[in-house]
Amino acid sequence: MKFRNIISLVTPFILISSFLATQSILAQDINLGKKVFSECVACHSVEPNVHLVGPSLAGVLNRNIGSAPDYRFSKALKNSNGVWDKKTLNSFIENPQAIFPGNRMPYSGLNNATERSALIAYLETLKP
Ligand code: HEC
Repeated sequence: MKFRNIISLVTPFILISSFLATQSILAQDINLGKKVFSECVACHSVEPNVHLVGPSLAGVLNRNIGSAPDYRFSKALKNSNGVWDKKTLNSFIENPQAIFPGNRMPYSGLNNATERSALIAYLETLKP
């Protein structure tokens, strides 16, 4: 068998197995993220439009900052013009007061970068 034929036989298997590996890493992230969410659950529900002390986090990814309907946000969040993309969420979770000074979230921040990215992977699964 020619070398090129071997490559063309083997390549799909490599692609499929690396795809599966990526999928299971993501599943692990989401599981870890769900656990880390225990830090947030006292103040945030994941049900759409169910607000506790904090606004519902259902569909928070790519939502305009401070825009969840029927929740009274602080001016610090309401008047910011951004969107909750992954980068902004990551900074906010790491140190809420550093990125939006004067916001009313009483949470000092999550230092562990792995936990933050897992938490964001979990938040991404929450549909609006
Ligand atoms: C002790 C209560 C409390 C805890 C714990 C808490 N939050 Fe909050 N969160 C709030 C409050 C209150 C607000 C609204 C702040 C404002 O209006 O300034 C908020 C706002 C937010 C927002 C902005 C939502 C939007 O629609 O603009 C995000 C995102 C968020 N919190 C994520 C988290 C995550 C993730 C955690 C856990 C790591 C967490 N919060 C922990 C109370 C809390």
